[in-house]
This record gives sequence, C-alpha cells and structure tokens, in this order.
Amino acid sequence: MAVSGTSSAPELLVELDRTAVEPLHRQLADGLRTAIRTGRLAADTRMPSTRVLAADLGVSRRLVVDAYSQLVAEGFLSSRHGSGTRVATVEIASPPRQSESTRRYDVDFLPGSPDLRSFPRAAWMRALRAGLAETASESFGYVEPQGLFAARTAIAHYLRRTRGVQADPRHIVLCSGATQAIALLGRALQDDELPLAMEDPGFWVHRMVLRHNGIEPIAVPVDDDGIDVAALAASEAKTVLTTPAHQSPTGVVLSAPRRTALVEWAREGHLVIEDDYDAEYRYDRAPVGALQGIAPDRVIYLGSTSKTLAPGLRIGWMVVPPALVGAIRLSKILADTGSSVMDQIAFTQLLTSGAYDRHLRQMRRRYVTRRNALLAALARHLPQATVLGAAAGVHLTVRFPDGYPIADLVRRAAAMRVNVEPLAPCYADPAAAPPGLLLGYANLTESQIDAGVATLARAAL
Ligand SMILES: Cc1ncc(COP(=O)(O)O)c(C=O)c1O
Repeated sequence: MAVSGTSSAPELLVELDRTAVEPLHRQLADGLRTAIRTGRLAADTRMPSTRVLAADLGVSRRLVVDAYSQLVAEGFLSSRHGSGTRVATVEIASPPRQSESTRRYDVDFLPGSPDLRSFPRAAWMRALRAGLAETASESFGYVEPQGLFAARTAIAHYLRRTRGVQADPRHIVLCSGATQAIALLGRALQDDELPLAMEDPGFWVHRMVLRHNGIEPIAVPVDDDGIDVAALAASEAKTVLTTPAHQSPTGVVLSAPRRTALVEWAREGHLVIEDDYDAEYRYDRAPVGALQGIAPDRVIYLGSTSKTLAPGLRIGWMVVPPALVGAIRLSKILADTGSSVMDQIAFTQLLTSGAYDRHLRQMRRRYVTRRNALLAALARHLPQATVLGAAAGVHLTVRFPDGYPIADLVRRAAAMRVNVEPLAPCYADPAAAPPGLLLGYANLTESQIDAGVATLARAAL
C-alpha cells in the first residue's frame, strides 16, 4: 500500500500487493479507478505526475504511464497538453471504503520504522525456499539456543565486513531483536557488572525493559559529542548501554576523543553494551566502525534487522565477550530456548546470496531522498525548528525554542491526522526535557513527508 501525491496533487491511497498474481499495472489502474468511482478522487483533481507517483510507489514510470493511459482510454482520466492529467467527471458509485476512512493517521512520522512496503518479499521467499532445501531435518528440532551455526557464521562475516566487528560465530547469540538482547542482559549481568548506566536522553523502550528486569539505569548526559564519558567515569556504573555510531535519539556521533575515553574506561574493567541499531544508513559522512572492533573483550555488540528489513521479523544478534557467552546463552535458553529456525534459514540465505546487500543499497538510495525531502520540508514550513542527527539512520530530531509547548503541538497534529513523537519520553526526567520531536521518514513517501510537515506547521501556529 502507498499513499501518494505532491503538494499540488492529491494525497492518494493506492494498494499494491507485490505477492499477488495480478500484474502491478492492473492493480494500479484498478486502485485509481476505484478511487475515482467512490469519489475519493474528485472530478478535475490534478493527478501526480507519472514520475512522482512512480517514485512514491517504488515502481517503474512506464507502469504508471500505462495505468494512466488505460484510464484515459476508459474515460476516468483526461489528459490535456499543458495541464497534466486530471480526473474526469464520472458517476460516483459508493461511499469511501471504511478501512480508509478509519485510518488513524494520514501521515505517521513514527521514528525507527523502515519502509515496510519495500520488504523484499520475493527475495525472502526465494531465500527460504533455497535454505529449506538444503537444511537437514534435525535443524527443525530444539536446536542450539545461540542460533544455527550457519546463521551465526553468515552474520559474523557480514559484521566483520561492514562494521569491523571482531565476530566469532561461537560468541554470537541470536535473539528476538535488540529488545530481547537488553532483557537477556538485564538477567545475565552479575552483581560485579552492575550498576548499569545508559544515555540520557536514550531509547525509552530500553530504559523500560531494564526497569522491568529490576535494573534502574544511571542516567549519563549526552551532548554534541555523544555520551559524556567523564560523567560516566565519575558514576558508580560498571556497565553502560550506549549508541556510539548514531546516538538514540539525538543522532550525534560519539567524537573521536570520547571514543578513546570510552574504550579506556572499558579496559579499566568495565563493560560497554554497544547498540548499533541503524549502522547501515550513513548518508553524508564516512561510516564509523564499531567500538567492539577495538575492545572485543569489553564490548557486547547488538544489532538487528528491524531497520534493514522489518521490525516484525524480530531478528537480532549479540556479539559477546567469550567470558559472558555462558551466562547469556543460559538467559536465552530460559527465555525461549532459541529463536525461530525458519527465519534464521531465510536470513542466512539472504546474507550469503548477496540479496541483503542489494536490498540495503536500494534502501539507502530511497531513504536519502526521503531524508532530503524532510529537510527541505522543514526548512520551508517549520524554519523555527533546529534539525539534529540527519546524517544517518531513519529518523532525525527537531528542537524547538525553549519553553515551546510541544505537547500541545503533538496533540494538535494528531487531531489533524499527523503523528509525531515528542522527545520527552527519551529523558530520564521527561519534565526536564527540551521541547523537541523525533521524526521518522523512511516509511513515508516524499509527498507524504511534505504534506505532513505542512500540516505540522499549521498545527504549530
Ligand atoms: C535505539 C534502538 N535500538 C534498537 C532498536 C531495535 O530494536 P529491535 O531490534 O528490538 O526491534 C531500535 C528500534 O527502534 C532503537 O531505536
């Protein structure tokens, strides 16, 4: 499904199912025809250009040209030189479909989501089929709780190649996303590895997971250079949870002196949990290697497919110092005996066949365009907002002048069917948080982004 339009053209819901037998051009023509028949697209509405609609839907321009021509031939659209393609006058058949009218948001800037429409369905099915064909039946039983050795080997190769992680398959534990990794660590860490510190602001879900497991994290401030390592060193913390490559949520990168200081702190007998949650997306700066590559005995490295494929997959991994493997493996056994073998089989194939790299290359191109669309829309519609952390990842942060009533803005935007998340829950003390928003852009089309920010600006008035 995709929603499309440009600032001058309509928001337009079109459902495309890449797994359906029906060709995409026919699905598109059907979708547009229904929108016109049901009155969702009013007579004389200007349609998006074929280029814009093709980009929004992630299909070829030819396909959109064919669908438009078909509808012109049927009298649903009219095409006049100089005024583009417009909706023709047709009889309206029925009211809008309920599922569309009851959608909660027209534009959802939910941070952290990749483009769910671009999940590589065909490649995943091919990978599962190929992987199943060569997997011994024994693998379908209760197997090694750390994960299939083939899966851990493929992940180790990938992490060595792309992140400089010193990954040995024997020290990898697969888990249900980074979230489960935090929960498992919450149980596996021993008294001499606690207390645990985390960044403030930091990912609020992780703070809650830790609390749920009986750990109240020490809050260590973050500034423009990343986590304040001097403040960490001055605290009682024995372990720290941190996001050095792209601080969550601010997006700053841990500076070189801070990296050195953090590694030194780790080598003094402390542990670093390195959450490398969106490492795959770097746009206008050189990628920073993982800290784990410098101090593998002191760093627990976390990664996940939630930003690269889909959060719904729940595939994640930990690369663990050898001395901790036993405790974390036990924690995994007692949590769920091991992660889904079927998913491991498909993911392994995806990695080893090169399909994962191809998917990432494609997504990087798409996300940088969306990121740029968001930056342009913010500059145009919301000049009072300061943008942070846009060079990487799938979200950015905007800060508003001190004292700005951000909660009111979030409420007003929601009433106008635009969802934005405030920064406040990321702070250990939300009441002391500066006014700001987290804006995810990867799961939105460029036209949605522009329309969403324009609405946000109206809500900000
Ligand atoms: C900071 C951070 N770490 C990790 C994740 C991924 O979590 P999971 O792998 O459990 O989906 C996210 C997702 O939003 C995140 O924001």
